[in-house]
Amino acid sequence: MTSADAANDAARILALRAEIEEHNRRYYVLDDPAISDSEYDGLFRALQELEARHPQLVTPDSPTQRVGSAPLPEFASVVHKTPMLSLSNAFSDAEVAAFDRRVREALGMPMEIPVEYAVEPKFDGLAIGLSYVDGRLQTGATRGDGFSGEDVTENLKTVPVIPINLKGEGWPARLEVRGEVLMRRRDFLALNRRQTERGEKTFANPRNAAAGSLRQLDSRITATRALSFFAYGAIFDSGGDSSSLPATHSALLDRLESWGFPVTRHRRAVSGLDGVLGYYREMGELRAGLPFDIDGVVYKVDALAAQERLGFVSRAPRFALAHKFPAEEAETLVTGIDIQVGRTGALTPVARLQPVFVGGATVTNATLHNEDEVRRKDVHIGDTVIVRRAGDVIPEVVRVLPEKRPEDARGFVMPSCCPVCGSAVVKGEDEAVTRCGGGLFCPAQRKQALWHFASRRALDIEGMGGKIADQLVDSGLVHTPADLYHLRPEQLAALERMGERSAANLLASIEKSKETTLARFIYALGIRNVGEATARDCARHFGRLERILAASEAELMQVPDIGPIVARSLLDFAAEAHNREVVDALRAAGVHWPEHEPAPRMAAAEEEAGLPLAGKTFVLTGTLPTLSREEAKELILARGGKISGSVSKKTDYVVAGAEAGSKLEKAQALGVALIDEEGLRELLNTCRAQSPPFMAGSARHGVTGAEGAPHCVEESPTFRLG
Ligand code: IVH
Repeated sequence: MTSADAANDAARILALRAEIEEHNRRYYVLDDPAISDSEYDGLFRALQELEARHPQLVTPDSPTQRVGSAPLPEFASVVHKTPMLSLSNAFSDAEVAAFDRRVREALGMPMEIPVEYAVEPKFDGLAIGLSYVDGRLQTGATRGDGFSGEDVTENLKTVPVIPINLKGEGWPARLEVRGEVLMRRRDFLALNRRQTERGEKTFANPRNAAAGSLRQLDSRITATRALSFFAYGAIFDSGGDSSSLPATHSALLDRLESWGFPVTRHRRAVSGLDGVLGYYREMGELRAGLPFDIDGVVYKVDALAAQERLGFVSRAPRFALAHKFPAEEAETLVTGIDIQVGRTGALTPVARLQPVFVGGATVTNATLHNEDEVRRKDVHIGDTVIVRRAGDVIPEVVRVLPEKRPEDARGFVMPSCCPVCGSAVVKGEDEAVTRCGGGLFCPAQRKQALWHFASRRALDIEGMGGKIADQLVDSGLVHTPADLYHLRPEQLAALERMGERSAANLLASIEKSKETTLARFIYALGIRNVGEATARDCARHFGRLERILAASEAELMQVPDIGPIVARSLLDFAAEAHNREVVDALRAAGVHWPEHEPAPRMAAAEEEAGLPLAGKTFVLTGTLPTLSREEAKELILARGGKISGSVSKKTDYVVAGAEAGSKLEKAQALGVALIDEEGLRELLNTCRAQSPPFMAGSARHGVTGAEGAPHCVEESPTFRLG
């Protein structure tokens, strides 16, 4: 080859790389592809061939090198220098107005001058942080719990639009870019098709597909997954020189774009409340036509100096707000109503639906909660209904379209016998729930009880999911949790889809679970109305299992936050000989925990003052997606919070779920902080929020994109003894 040919090839390689990168950008970022997939493949192959001829010209940032590398044994953990926070949510114009008012008040701005906001879509993917040193990608990490995440650098390097080397100039020596990895709907559907063809598991929605693809230990798999990325914030560290920091979030995003980061073209700066609400409506109309899922829009005070002044509350910035879209709804047909039997025997009617795509997933059934709910909504088999689904929330039937009811539509009758075990069902006078009276005689209840027993927060038997619990019960190997501790390897290995190796692993996890705590053990027993927090309180109060099982109603009610209902559940449990036998069998099999004398009672006030939510009052309203009212309450109480039935100025948080009513309105009127279940969970996982590091310290960092965080101390998950 002549040197002229070689120079030609070198130039062609550079040109092809630039061309491929531009096509990636057009596809993943602009949604405006200029060539077909096969033409793209042609360019890619041409580059591969040229590079094969000139291996010395291959650089790590070539598109051909984004193919992943050898699998990792596990992901390393990365501590985020600046924690990755979440956003406060708003669901109504009134909440947005309250946000605008708070911002204006905090900044001391008069009514006539509107606040300038940077507005963007709220991408429905997963948050990541990308660290660049001297313009080169160093580390990429998932959000994790906000304080530390997983090092997924190798995976992120395979995402075509994430820059490995920055373009242009003027980037700070250290730059951390935050943004969202997502999968376009089209790529999600194609991936699921491929997965089905290969007999592998499909993903429920694009977000899960993106998360699943990014969290592959084998980055070569990630490389096949067509992931996209949008940057929405950055933390600059120019080593003390703050002169080059942008003045606004909008300018910051422009800079990120000039350095090669994908930034949404749906971003904009708008003025005041009218501006943000106008943008919300506009994006609401564009939403269905976008190539990827968004679940709302985000407003950020544009001026970075104002962001810094506003700071943070708990784990969310005061200068930003997510305005969520309502849950998506769709029309479909009820083809049947089945009954599911839960862990405590509750019979739940479930509507079987003609499959319908809604809220980012195909929905085939929806919970009808209980008999009264079926009556109230008047759902018949054969009805056309509106179903709703948001995020990972269980889909629900919103209403029936009576005009579409066929003549042969059939009403629903709650069976009088359990459909699984045939035992008679029971329903208390003022109870909504119908229960199977079979207790642990009922295989459905046994399966669920076993699954609960093994779950992470209970005895934490790794590898024992619902499917295995089902198999163990169906095969007759396990009647009560105590039987788990007598399983032999060959019995397990004989189960379907279980090899010798998995059997050995499961047995090892079972063995490991023998060493536990009293609180976990009580929780694992699955006693009605006894959640984790109650179990912990009981353990702390009584110290020994025998004392709990022997306690009278009055003694039980001395435990803080145990009322007559929980006390009754504990007494009923203890009175049942069968339950005592299971407890004895578990202990005989070697399940043990450190025994303690009961904790000396601190003065209530003193004890509570040490808890993270001490002094905070919560009001619960509406239906939360996964927590029951009772569970939410327990969790709050266990951390020292108070529950109140009505909203006043003294209320610190209103936790609002679906169909929240007047309490929500009142909270908005009074400007009380509104959070959803996600927000609550975050609060529960956090301790004392202190001032954000950049506010307390030097002006070393320009923090924007609604990032930067209070330093939070993670609460110890175990209970304090003595
Ligand atoms: S700013 C302080 N901007 O929403 C957190 N977040 O609830 C700042 N998200 O974990 C993030 N689109 O994954 C921001 N345009 C956007 C966003 C966005 C989606 C996600 C992000 C974050 C979650 C916060």
